[in-house]
Amino acid sequence: MLETDKLLKELTIDEKINLLAGYDFWHTYAIPRLDIPSISVSDGPNGVRGVKFFNGEPSTCFPCGTGLAASFNKELILKCGELMGKEAKLKKVNLILGPTCNILRSPLGGRGFESYSEDPYLSGIITSYLVEGIQKENILACLKHFVCNDQEKDRKIVNVKLTDRSFREVYLKPFQLAIKNSNPGSLMIAYNKVQGEYISESKSIIQDIVRDEWKYDGCLMSDWFGTNSAKKALDAGLNLEMPGPTIQRTKAQIDDEKVSEDVINENVKYVLDMVKKAEKVNFDEEIDESDSLAVARQIGDESIVLLKNDEKTLPLSKNVKSIAIIGPNAKASQESGGGSATLPTRYKTTPIQSIKEKLSKATEIFYEQGCQLDKNVPDIGPLLIDEFGKPGVSANFYHEPETTKDRKPFETINLNTSQIFLADFKSPQLPVDQALYYVEFISYFTPDETAEYEFGCSTLGTAELFVNDRLLIDNKTKQVKGDAFFLAMGTIEEKGYIHLNKGEKYQIKILFGTTPTNKLGINRAESGGVYFGCRKRAKPEEDLQKAIELSKKVDYVILCVGLSKEWETEGTDRTTMNLPGNSNKLIEGVCQANKNVILINQSGTPITMPWVNLPKAIVHAWYGGNELGNSIANVIFGDANPSGKLSMTWPKKLEDNPSYLHFGSNNGQVWYGEDVFVGYKYYEKVNLKPLYPFGFGLSYTEFEISNLNINKKDDNLVVTVDVKNIGDVEGSEVVQVYIAQSNPKEVRPVKDLKDFNKVNLKPNETKSVKFEISIKEATSYWNESINKWQSDKDEFKVFVGNSSDNISIGGTFNTEATFTWLSV
Ligand code: BGC
Repeated sequence: MLETDKLLKELTIDEKINLLAGYDFWHTYAIPRLDIPSISVSDGPNGVRGVKFFNGEPSTCFPCGTGLAASFNKELILKCGELMGKEAKLKKVNLILGPTCNILRSPLGGRGFESYSEDPYLSGIITSYLVEGIQKENILACLKHFVCNDQEKDRKIVNVKLTDRSFREVYLKPFQLAIKNSNPGSLMIAYNKVQGEYISESKSIIQDIVRDEWKYDGCLMSDWFGTNSAKKALDAGLNLEMPGPTIQRTKAQIDDEKVSEDVINENVKYVLDMVKKAEKVNFDEEIDESDSLAVARQIGDESIVLLKNDEKTLPLSKNVKSIAIIGPNAKASQESGGGSATLPTRYKTTPIQSIKEKLSKATEIFYEQGCQLDKNVPDIGPLLIDEFGKPGVSANFYHEPETTKDRKPFETINLNTSQIFLADFKSPQLPVDQALYYVEFISYFTPDETAEYEFGCSTLGTAELFVNDRLLIDNKTKQVKGDAFFLAMGTIEEKGYIHLNKGEKYQIKILFGTTPTNKLGINRAESGGVYFGCRKRAKPEEDLQKAIELSKKVDYVILCVGLSKEWETEGTDRTTMNLPGNSNKLIEGVCQANKNVILINQSGTPITMPWVNLPKAIVHAWYGGNELGNSIANVIFGDANPSGKLSMTWPKKLEDNPSYLHFGSNNGQVWYGEDVFVGYKYYEKVNLKPLYPFGFGLSYTEFEISNLNINKKDDNLVVTVDVKNIGDVEGSEVVQVYIAQSNPKEVRPVKDLKDFNKVNLKPNETKSVKFEISIKEATSYWNESINKWQSDKDEFKVFVGNSSDNISIGGTFNTEATFTWLSV
């Protein structure tokens, strides 16, 4: 490919306009005449899904963002990035749409699990290492969603109002740090507005901050369908509209709105530069998939946070006499949150399977589900057989509806899931602009128990579900708007109930019409889809009692609770911090019945724990990727010593969270009223005890931090401490450095995290841990009266500890002069 300047001279105006938008969902435009290739992009933050959303190739799934950050392990995150880069090569993907470095303002945020932290420094550093790892492989990373996309409610239009100081110190900071440290190839501009203006149209954010102050030279792309204008967005510098084909940047619109050729050139330049950087990749390199599985397990192990361990209940002996594994997450594989972060995983592990594998043959093992968790009926793809006897579902695609006599399918494929989103389905028999077509999904289900079954079906389009030709669910003639599909476009889940006999084979057939057939008035270019499934109809009281009775009979209970990708997902925020359904009742009942309960929680963000005093041990295991079952089992039995630390404060109740009064959307507006006091900075300032503090996590050993030294070297503060393992097993500790100004003129947090390092130590071993911290970054705050960063001449305190509320040692240093600064 020629140099960008030369290409700009060669390209016709029509070709330039084509380059300003995607070609399709996952590709940029190619201009073969000038050897300009198309580059391919793929979600997402915790793995690489590939360029097919529908029926894609399986991938390694790493723990969700909050879990990755909880590892507090920079080197491991770098490795994770490298492996994502390698996976991208396997899938012929040039650019990964991630990491997500928005801020966890509230436990309710639908995509909180995907982001890293409430703390901008932790978030910015984890982002930097992941990007560095990805880009080492010559794959580009795309930071998202820039900026203040910290909730799902009204995400496409919400106007975020906040002080300039919190904008700078909290929300822009992770992006600023990551751009400075790792120069990501691209930045995805969020859907929302800030201070009344779409970010995608804001010159003061894009030009003044990103380009002029931060000197960023990567490509700015829109979030999917997030370009709202032609001229305004191009003038502001939103370089690439995604996906394609264009909606806002047709030749006619560009001519009509008189977008200048200089502006077109300026935007095309960044697209071409990105394509040029992406060209460096070698897609022919041999990749060993098994590398990433070992790292996925290590990250899984290191992300798990041990919250409670009374009487050293954990690690548990592998030879206990009897154990019950109970709970809605015991047999589930909660590898990831929902929405665009979801991947078809290479394989699945579950807590029950991995725990069973570790227990001795002599141990008596029992199981009860106790209660249900899923918001909707679960995916039953793995339990189905298609028309040809293969596992899965047959999908027969037609141009005509089922009322057409003798219609013939233009394509038949096998699917391994019953959650079918045809987002980017393509077929040689289907013209690209034909949104209307029909699909018949056929599969066979053989129950392993005689019972009444609950079927569910939601759709974007229309769907009728038949069991042995009996219409059980009509989601066609009348439809109710719900939050199905992660853009919250589809219907509610309609239900149907039927008695089924053990061992009998039942045909499940869905007659589906694509999006244009919907009766909700949804007008979208995608084909839509259908989610269906079934499960034994719950008997809530009976299920609960069975679990409680079982708990009475065994020595130990491992209780697997939490949330799932249906509760934490793109498109919707949670409405409560409580566990769903009968989960709390189950926990209380089981803990009353048995004194030795080990509770495993899986969620991407905090949940309320009204029963916190009851279980002997509490393990928080996030959405743990492919290896979640193995990592949970490793920690329970001590094959891995837990070393994860909370990447957010865990409040006692939702009302304690600083964003409580200002979360969501009030007629399209949200006020970030907690200002810079996000997360622990609020709890510390108002002296409110959370349930578990930021940075907290137990180990099976103990550490001692001593011998603090603080020196200055050039523009850096050099902090060293000694860390000793004073227990009797090997383990890793996260040493955290917080800094505070002694006599601030502005109201400032009690302290801010400014660096961290993880160190592994054998029993009795001592290591010196060193931090080099930029004095400018560590001391500055945003001075709103002069619109600059300011570092005051003052004394600053240094706190070193293993949690925000467990500071072992402290010291001070002084700055010699007050100074202000703007550019990085
Ligand atoms: C999400 C992005 C994602 C894109 C493509 C959007 O809905 O907000 O994070 O990368 O879809 O899947």
